[in-house]
Amino acid sequence: MKHTLFAIAILAVSCCTSPKMPIYLDESKPLEARVEDALSRMTVEEKVKILHAQSKFSSAGVPRLGIPELWTTDGPHGIRPEVLWDQWDQACWTNDSIVAFPALTCLAATWSEEMSALYGKSIGEEARYREKDVLLGPGVNIYRTPLCGRNFEYMGEDPFLAGKMCVPYIQEVQKNGVAVCVKHYALNNQEARRHYYNAVVDDRALYEIYLPAFKTAVQEGGAWSIMGAYNLFEGQHLCHNDRMLNKILKEEWGFDGAVISDWGGVHNTEEAIANGLDLEFGTGTNGLDSKYGQSYDAYNLALPYLERLMDGRASMEVLDDKVRRVLRLNFRTAMNRNKPYGSICSPEHYDAARKIAGEGIVLLKNDNNILPINLETTKKILVVGENAIKKMTVGGGSSSLKAKDEFTPIVGLQEAIGDKAQVVYQRGYVGDLLRTYNNVDTGIDLTDPRSEEELIADAVAEAADADIVLFFGGLNKAKGQDAEGRDRASLALPYAQDKVIEALAAVNKNIVVLIVSGNAVEMPWVDNVDGIVQTWFLGTETGHAIADVLLGKVNPSGKLPFTFPVKLEDNGAHALNAYHKDSLTVEYKESIYVGYRWAEKHNIEPLFAFGHGLSYTTFEYGEATCRKSGSGFKVSVDVTNTGAREGKEVVQLYISDEVSSLERPIKELKGFKKVALAPGETKKVTFEIEPDMLKFYDPAKGWVLEPGKFTAHVGAASDDIRTTVDFNVK
Ligand code: BGC
Repeated sequence: MKHTLFAIAILAVSCCTSPKMPIYLDESKPLEARVEDALSRMTVEEKVKILHAQSKFSSAGVPRLGIPELWTTDGPHGIRPEVLWDQWDQACWTNDSIVAFPALTCLAATWSEEMSALYGKSIGEEARYREKDVLLGPGVNIYRTPLCGRNFEYMGEDPFLAGKMCVPYIQEVQKNGVAVCVKHYALNNQEARRHYYNAVVDDRALYEIYLPAFKTAVQEGGAWSIMGAYNLFEGQHLCHNDRMLNKILKEEWGFDGAVISDWGGVHNTEEAIANGLDLEFGTGTNGLDSKYGQSYDAYNLALPYLERLMDGRASMEVLDDKVRRVLRLNFRTAMNRNKPYGSICSPEHYDAARKIAGEGIVLLKNDNNILPINLETTKKILVVGENAIKKMTVGGGSSSLKAKDEFTPIVGLQEAIGDKAQVVYQRGYVGDLLRTYNNVDTGIDLTDPRSEEELIADAVAEAADADIVLFFGGLNKAKGQDAEGRDRASLALPYAQDKVIEALAAVNKNIVVLIVSGNAVEMPWVDNVDGIVQTWFLGTETGHAIADVLLGKVNPSGKLPFTFPVKLEDNGAHALNAYHKDSLTVEYKESIYVGYRWAEKHNIEPLFAFGHGLSYTTFEYGEATCRKSGSGFKVSVDVTNTGAREGKEVVQLYISDEVSSLERPIKELKGFKKVALAPGETKKVTFEIEPDMLKFYDPAKGWVLEPGKFTAHVGAASDDIRTTVDFNVK
């Protein structure tokens, strides 16, 4: 439809008005010239019309000029099912089932820019096929507390990792003529009171921790749009926050794209006009209590804006800036006739989902080489736990999907094992029975009449003679777990899972716990089990990817993108009582000491450290060397696969500033490279250190680089440094 309108417009304009194609339609002309030309042809009403929604997920174009509508979609793990015009419920189309890709925590855990590119390419193709212009993702909010219900949609606790890992995703999505909308800018680090809390954050933490991933997304990734967050900063909602949007994003970083509000994140017309918002979505559409009649007309950037423009309270210059940004977004996406067609549910997308999942799964513990499972010697495999049979792509908020397929862990294991061993299933616990979300149905009835005691007893009875027990637990997509709109109540596993694990471990020591979650969990039984695997939410290919790793077809290479603390108080925000579920103010008292930065400063041993992840092979590191290179340095190290299997290692570079006028973290991630090594093979890994990477943010002076001694630490995890080398900045 959009394309037909567009074609008619071209014809109409070229046949009737002028023999020459107008500049805005001429794709050989530079983008800015086209935008200016379109702008000059638009009435004030038409300008205002493109600055707000016309349905749940779309905004109007300029039909008179043949400028098409703009269609957005969630995001960020797959393309959301079509919804009704003005409702969240799916519209029950039969052609909108998609591939669900692994959650972004899993992508971050791959520490692989290659996987990020593959993810972006694949999801971008699906978005394009579904005729979407803006994909609402990726999310790069920093993992401040393990209680945040939306951590699974983000990329971990480290700004460098999150920044580097979102860039290829962004670039590959946008190659499809689909914009990303990086979210939620910024300081949206909890779901509790997400519409109301004012984040009180010092400038150093702002610039060093909470902004860099967004900046990288904009400057290196070239993101075409960005989504304001729900909460407040400096007393202003982040969807219309002068400092964050006008000063930092647009002036400091030179962002030329559009700021899109989060759905229902706009609260004040004057601020929406003046403070950098360009496109308003989701502001509530009952329309009944509004003097403007039709609900979408009542949006802040609709008739209330038009009124102010007409009576001179609002300036045309600011209007034109917004319109230019939205036109730019439109020309880059909906108006782009040279974009590829895209594809959906292609074999390539299934492969991509499986590959990314396989590279993101993190082997946390593997005592006695309990994994991979040797099918030559294993006769009975007992699978316990709700998460082995539960579909996780349905639920959790706006990232909920309608996947064409979701292979659960039990399905993947049964398929891969076939008749090579007996696979027995026991439920173990009953957690959440969620079956439908926004009218999408998993088709699985999870009810079970047994009591907690009966469930445990049945599982234990089967465990006694099993060769191996695989416990699939963790969290799920129910409210209060890994889900939007609410935070977790505690770090502990819900539904008495600890009890089940302890009971199983008491009768069978060959036990592997698989945690399905986007968050850290407490593990009081950590010493009583041989194997622990962090599997994340893996989407369509869940079962296949897990079976690949458990059976050794894929050698695990994922590393944690955030710290697993032993207990909640080992996290800075909680140690300082600076996480508040119920308060209107959340003071980020831990400042820059987030995640491993806090643990290292206070000498707190984590349960599993940032960057940790094991392999079925072993890697040896040579001595790091450092040499001057241009204005920076190059640090190199040889890494050798000393085991019998091929494998991939994520070589990590951390830097400490030995002498500094402001206290700095013990060390900070400044580089990572994933290398594939055959048994016995050695590769040289080289990191480039640019002077900018050594700077810190001094609130009094801005970014500063102080001369002196720095140390480069190279290793396999933040707590597994294998070699260090010093260098001096003059
Ligand atoms: C979420 C966004 C999402 C939007 C549209 C909001 O509630 O915070 O992340 O993109 O809804 O579904």
